Amino acid sequence: MPVVFLLLTFTFTFSFHGCFVHAGDPELYFNWNVSFAKVSPFGVEKKVIVINDRLPGPLLNVTTNNVVSVNVFNNLDDPFLLTWNGVQMRRNSWNDGVQGTNCPIPPGKNWTYHMQVKDQIGSFFYFPSLGFQMAAGGYGPIRINNRVIIPIPFSFPQDDFDILIADWYDMDYQDMRDAVDQGFPLSLPDGILINGLPPEKANFTFKSGATYRLRISNVGIKTTLNFRIQGHKMLLVETEGSYTLKQYYDSLDIHVGQSYSVLVTADQPPSTSYYIVASSRFLELDLLGVAIINYGDGSNKRPSGGLPEGPLPFDYNYSMEQARSIRWDLKVGAARPNPQGSYRYGHINITRTIVLQNDEVMIGDRTRHAINGVSFVYPDTPLKLADYFRIAGVLTAGEVPDEPSGRKPTLGTPVVDASYKSFVEIVFQNNESWIQSWHMDGYNFVVVGMEEGKWNKSSRSTYNMVDAIFRSTVQVYPNSWTAILVALDNMGTWNIRSQELERRQLGQELYMRVKWDEAANNTVPNPRDEMPFPPGLLLCGKAAARSGTP
Ligand SMILES: *[C@@H]1O[C@H](CO)[C@@H](O)[C@H](O)[C@H]1NC(C)=O
Ligand SMILES: *[C@@H]1O[C@H](CO)[C@@H](O)[C@H](O)[C@H]1NC(C)=O
Ligand SMILES: *[C@@H]1O[C@H](CO)[C@@H](O)[C@H](O)[C@H]1NC(C)=O
Ligand SMILES: *[C@@H]1O[C@H](CO)[C@@H](O)[C@H](O)[C@H]1NC(C)=O
Ligand SMILES: *[C@@H]1O[C@H](CO)[C@@H](O)[C@H](O)[C@H]1NC(C)=O
Ligand SMILES: *[C@@H]1O[C@H](CO)[C@@H](O)[C@H](O)[C@H]1NC(C)=O
Ligand SMILES: *[C@@H]1O[C@H](CO)[C@@H](O)[C@H](O)[C@H]1NC(C)=O
Ligand SMILES: *[C@@H]1O[C@H](CO)[C@@H](O)[C@H](O)[C@H]1NC(C)=O
Ligand SMILES: *[C@@H]1O[C@H](CO)[C@@H](O)[C@H](O)[C@H]1NC(C)=O
Repeated sequence: MPVVFLLLTFTFTFSFHGCFVHAGDPELYFNWNVSFAKVSPFGVEKKVIVINDRLPGPLLNVTTNNVVSVNVFNNLDDPFLLTWNGVQMRRNSWNDGVQGTNCPIPPGKNWTYHMQVKDQIGSFFYFPSLGFQMAAGGYGPIRINNRVIIPIPFSFPQDDFDILIADWYDMDYQDMRDAVDQGFPLSLPDGILINGLPPEKANFTFKSGATYRLRISNVGIKTTLNFRIQGHKMLLVETEGSYTLKQYYDSLDIHVGQSYSVLVTADQPPSTSYYIVASSRFLELDLLGVAIINYGDGSNKRPSGGLPEGPLPFDYNYSMEQARSIRWDLKVGAARPNPQGSYRYGHINITRTIVLQNDEVMIGDRTRHAINGVSFVYPDTPLKLADYFRIAGVLTAGEVPDEPSGRKPTLGTPVVDASYKSFVEIVFQNNESWIQSWHMDGYNFVVVGMEEGKWNKSSRSTYNMVDAIFRSTVQVYPNSWTAILVALDNMGTWNIRSQELERRQLGQELYMRVKWDEAANNTVPNPRDEMPFPPGLLLCGKAAARSGTP
């Protein structure tokens, strides 16, 4: 009897490309055609990346536990990869779509991502991860809807709108990349787009009295944007897959790579239209993205009055106070019925502390960015594949020290080894005068604290150990620190990166290899902890001639 049961379990659980999927999890299949198009939002024509002829690309609309395949046809003359910002890719860094885990899809070829959106809900986005392609678009929204049996913690909105806001450069993306590589810093952006459109071109229609969910992501490459709506308050409900304490905001600072859901009720006179504004923060010039909300019939009424005012451009205090006010709603459930607060992170012992400081440095005659003295460069073989095929000399484990070292900066391909199931405190120390934005693939983390100055152990007394927000992208203010706690329960090789493109291109990223650690003895290795090597994975570099077994 036990033998039969086991066999049945295996048949069901290994049925889909080695994914650990249960029978009955619905499967969705998408065909995406990636190509170039030309647009000129501010009068200068630029080559952009469109998916199925659209910028932003199609909505990836999925539900918790769906098994998702996305067949991507690369019609560019450039290698291409998409990554799924904030989607946890459980046990599946194989499909994460960054250069350290995946070989690029060559021009003229297609490749199919396979993933399960396991135990997740929320608003996210995808974007091209290679080179400077994100500066040419190629991004699009992701919604992971609640399963029908798990209620959302607010009344069902009339409709959802995906709003992708981004800084925009008229310059060709390859020229931008070449300039940055050669040490010319990125100039200021030329404008702000809302859903790929210049000011006053994007519009949304509201029905008087109805409430809408706006899922807003900053898909830009450099600029924090302040989001606000003329005459309407925004009720914050979700950020990157966590339901927040419901609070009203007049405006929200959204840093590069971050996503928020707000509820907006159409409670203003329908006789006029209203401005949506996404304005640049912390820049010497004031750039504005503008969209329009029409009430009712969608007729072409102009908004009355001026654009709504935002905070002062360099008011970091406003921004930090707001960030601290965004908290986790402990009482409601997210992807599972149990409340978010049943994860009592404040009761778990920290097993390791890592302080990561990014600095602008000179290596040779070039400006680079280095984390604790190591500036990341990609090898020709993805780290994940080099690791799997045991190809020597690609990744350099242990190269990044656990705290800033003060040593002479070097180029490297750093991988931080971390124990599966350990509970790690990471402090991002920003010693620059520019705001930083950090993203971690494969995980959500708890943002327990942020303060001005230099972090030390007694800074822990300021931590929120009860209801800090759980998310995947966090800002670090100039000359300040941000501390996160993360439970390393997702085996794989995961990208920790600057979401600001220029810094990432110049070396502000690394990989964390979360693996079973014999010495820590914290678990026993189980093949189910990570998906097996997926058949059909693209191979390249030193792994090009390998087959599916190491
Ligand atoms: C993809 O788009 C390109 C350019 O628009 C077109 O030439 C090609 O036929 C499309 N391919 C598929 C498979 O749809
Ligand atoms: C997204 O998927 C959900 C669940 O299947 C469905 O109810 C909804 O209509 C879809 N929305 C869009 C815009 O496709
Ligand atoms: C490429 O697309 C074809 C047609 O949809 C599909 O049958 C094939 O599996 C795809 N190849 C890969 C490697 O995903
Ligand atoms: C609103 O946007 C649609 C496309 O989404 C466009 O066709 C229409 O002209 C726009 N209307 C206004 C008033 O700008
Ligand atoms: C920071 O902002 C908060 C709330 O917005 C305010 O109470 C406080 O006085 C400000 N602090 C400084 C130093 O400006
Ligand atoms: C956490 O650490 C404290 C003090 O070192 C210890 O007493 C306690 O047992 C630990 N808790 C767990 C769950 O390991
Ligand atoms: C931080 O920056 C200041 C000024 O740029 C510099 O003097 C200081 O040494 C830096 N601190 C660290 C820890 O790198
Ligand atoms: C630690 O940082 C706090 C401010 O966060 C500061 O008041 C204190 O002096 C620092 N302690 C040490 C030992 O540097
Ligand atoms: C590791 O765990 C095993 C099984 O629980 C136990 O027998 C062994 O003593 C542990 N080893 C260490 C070094 O803690």
